[in-house]
Amino acid sequence: MKFIIANWKMHIPNVKTWKQKPSFGKNIRAVIAPPFPFIGEVKKNVSWAELGAQDVFSKDPVGGGSFTGEVSASMLRSLGVSYIIIGHSEKRKYSKETDEIINKKVLLSLKKGFKVVLCIGEPLTIRAKGILAVENFLKNQLKVDLGKVAVRFQNNIYIAYEPIWAIGSGKTDSPKDILEVSDIIEKFLSRKKIGKIKFLYGGSVDENNVEKILKSEKIDGALIGSSSVEAKEFKKILSVVSRL
Ligand code: PGA
Repeated sequence: MKFIIANWKMHIPNVKTWKQKPSFGKNIRAVIAPPFPFIGEVKKNVSWAELGAQDVFSKDPVGGGSFTGEVSASMLRSLGVSYIIIGHSEKRKYSKETDEIINKKVLLSLKKGFKVVLCIGEPLTIRAKGILAVENFLKNQLKVDLGKVAVRFQNNIYIAYEPIWAIGSGKTDSPKDILEVSDIIEKFLSRKKIGKIKFLYGGSVDENNVEKILKSEKIDGALIGSSSVEAKEFKKILSVVSRL
């Protein structure tokens, strides 16, 4: 099974162009994560994909609360969202989201029954120092982001490895390096007693490189930004993955 998740970021979608169901195999789960205001429209128009959100607030008091500008897990549930992207590097950068905040969001979302797509990834300065530096950086993120997560949630955890230098840059990590990171994370999480989670890659995935990135059965899917904004392009990706 491959999970192909569209992260529309803050782009304004033309939802009508997404209506028609593309043909893709049973080996694929397609997920669309629109900006909050478009979630309802996507739910109404796009029957062939599951719904994701790009963020969630770290608290969810019954009946709501005084948190201007925030969106709670319960609100997302009422819209039919089942996946929540947490800890994207753009949220870490522009909203100054810390690993501690990310951990709160992860714990809350798992408890509420969502599938959590937790984004981690190193900047170029770390990558330039070699794989050991990358390993330390990612482990430090995971240690906090997944702190106190109980093993019973492992089926709902999707780690999206997104090297920051690969996001929106047209440069993807090599399949060999992605597999190396997947091994590092697998070993680390088994030592932490979280065990087997799903491992996704993100960072400049498109119709031309998706095949070689997702070929290995160790890579469970992709989180796709730029190439997921236009329906036509995203559907092409689905058709390539169908043939894997
Ligand atoms: P990209 O973005 O595909 O445009 O590199 C991926 C992401 O940020 O999730």
